[in-house]
Amino acid sequence: MKYRALGRTGWKVSEISFGAWAIGGAWGNVDDRESLKALHRALDLGVNFFDTADVYGDGRSERLLARLKRERSEEVIIATKAGRRLEPHIASGYNRQNLSGFIDRSLRNLETDALDLLQLHCPPTEAYYHPQLFGELDDFVKQGKIRHYGVSVEKVEEALKAIEYPGVKTVQIIFNIFRQRPTELFFAEARRRETGILARVPLASGMLTGKLNAKSEFAADDHRAFNRHGEAFNRGETFSGVDYETGLQAIEELRALVPEEMTMAQFALRWILMFEAVSCAIPGAKTPSQVEDNTLAAEFPPLSDETMAATREIYNHRIRPLVHHYW
Ligand SMILES: NC(=O)c1ccc[n+]([C@@H]2O[C@H](COP(=O)([O-])OP(=O)(O)OC[C@H]3O[C@@H](n4cnc5c(N)ncnc54)[C@H](OP(=O)(O)O)[C@@H]3O)[C@@H](O)[C@H]2O)c1
Repeated sequence: MKYRALGRTGWKVSEISFGAWAIGGAWGNVDDRESLKALHRALDLGVNFFDTADVYGDGRSERLLARLKRERSEEVIIATKAGRRLEPHIASGYNRQNLSGFIDRSLRNLETDALDLLQLHCPPTEAYYHPQLFGELDDFVKQGKIRHYGVSVEKVEEALKAIEYPGVKTVQIIFNIFRQRPTELFFAEARRRETGILARVPLASGMLTGKLNAKSEFAADDHRAFNRHGEAFNRGETFSGVDYETGLQAIEELRALVPEEMTMAQFALRWILMFEAVSCAIPGAKTPSQVEDNTLAAEFPPLSDETMAATREIYNHRIRPLVHHYW
């Protein structure tokens, strides 16, 4: 495993880290014993950074991570998120009282006295224009309840606004072969301010592993069945907002670019690591073998300029018209 600086946090995080949404819920049935095996395997392979949220399985994902920490002695850095418990989910809900309650609950779930990294969980755009919100987060740092804070965003514009606040140390954003707009302006700005970047949905919800086809079936409680058109949350979180058939067509074109020694998942993750602004990719994984496949991506040499140009071309003609202007 290789490690990169996570912005100004002082931490070095594994290039391939771990996204812990699927082991919480909304991805069909998961078995905690298998999830724990996947988490242990990730630590075995040098992963030291885990991304979760208070709402993933209503705390199930956070509690599994607490158990991992109890069972292991290695340093584990855990990023969690707050805000999605708000009902309704509105900008004014991101206030001191509500956040304090969410933080206390995550502290209990994670069995700790201080959260390593707290991220606002894709708040409405308006929240980024409330400086007092970021002042409250500074206060939580001073109180010692959180060590650092950052944001998880839907749109590049939100990311650019968020990093104007000096306390924002990290931005989590969708970035993958199907979502290339962050490279245009945001990466340069984030590097200038030394902001850490977590590349989420790196496999486009599993599509970029190349394993899906027109006949693939998803359980009713898997967001790949129930959120394809944004019925439950932002459409961009499911297959990166690319419609299923178009995604499959682009995958067939991408296959020809995957070097022989790599799986398509490794190719997709290695592509993300080509961008120095990225601190880590956080692929979700449900099993030890998915973890093994994904973490190995960090061991491959850089992709060639021709390959990078060819992926860009596939993005430009297949995907760009569908997503580029939205996020
Ligand atoms: N709003 C937010 O802040 C937000 C939103 C989305 C995600 N995230 C974070 O980002 C992380 C990653 O995104 P994601 O989990 O949505 O999507 P992803 O990483 O693009 O896809 C993960 C899924 O792909 C499949 N998979 C993973 N590795 C594989 C492999 N090597 N071979 C075959 N299949 C594989 C697994 O599902 P199956 O086996 O079921 O196919 C896995 O759950 C999340 O876990 C979460 O921590 C945050």
